[in-house]
Amino acid sequence: MWFNDKSVFVGKRFRTTADSKELLELHGLLAECFASRAEDRTGGADGHIRRVKQLAGILVRAMLENNYPDFTAEYADNIILASALHDLGKIAVSDAILAKKGELNVKESQLMQSHTLEGAKILEDISAALGGGTYTAVAAVIARGHHERWNGCGYPDRLKGEDIPLAARVTAIVDGFDCLAAGSPYSRKLELSEAFKAVREFSGIYYDPVLTDMFLSKSEQIAEIYKA
Ligand SMILES: [Fe+2]
Ligand SMILES: [Fe+2]
Repeated sequence: MWFNDKSVFVGKRFRTTADSKELLELHGLLAECFASRAEDRTGGADGHIRRVKQLAGILVRAMLENNYPDFTAEYADNIILASALHDLGKIAVSDAILAKKGELNVKESQLMQSHTLEGAKILEDISAALGGGTYTAVAAVIARGHHERWNGCGYPDRLKGEDIPLAARVTAIVDGFDCLAAGSPYSRKLELSEAFKAVREFSGIYYDPVLTDMFLSKSEQIAEIYKA
């Protein structure tokens, strides 16, 4: 299937557009399955990865519509694919910590937070092996930065404002929104209207205010994702 007679494999690159597209789709699906398995170990994460990708798609398309500065369609596509891998580093966190009900102690909390660095390391290694320039490089940035917060209270690097990479700021909003709208092991499920309200309230505190406005402007499209 991959190597039909029209495809020419050169080093690590496929030459025809059709084959590149197929390979990218396959990468995306494999990554989604892999990331879902890592996430599902916590229980209650059903569909989270798929919805994060859908929400990321809605937000990056809004950014393109609004001519977000220096933002390209290619970068938008990379963010959509890469957003699925934001919690890949949970592979390195023990089941006992992931499944623990109630508050984590300091040590457990540190281990949980290390999923950002673990995920980034895995993805940086993959990106380097592929020679760079693929969505895995963006995925490494997202894995490391998706818990950074606009006001600097996040982790692991306590970055603030636009020092947080754009792809990580996008993923922080869509990941946070889905945890509120669908519930997560760490937060109860809210009504959709409450989830929108909470994201609006966190704008400029946790989330990039410009991106949050663009996200909220697509509330009807977003609501479609949560219809049974
Ligand atoms: Fe995370
Ligand atoms: Fe997540």
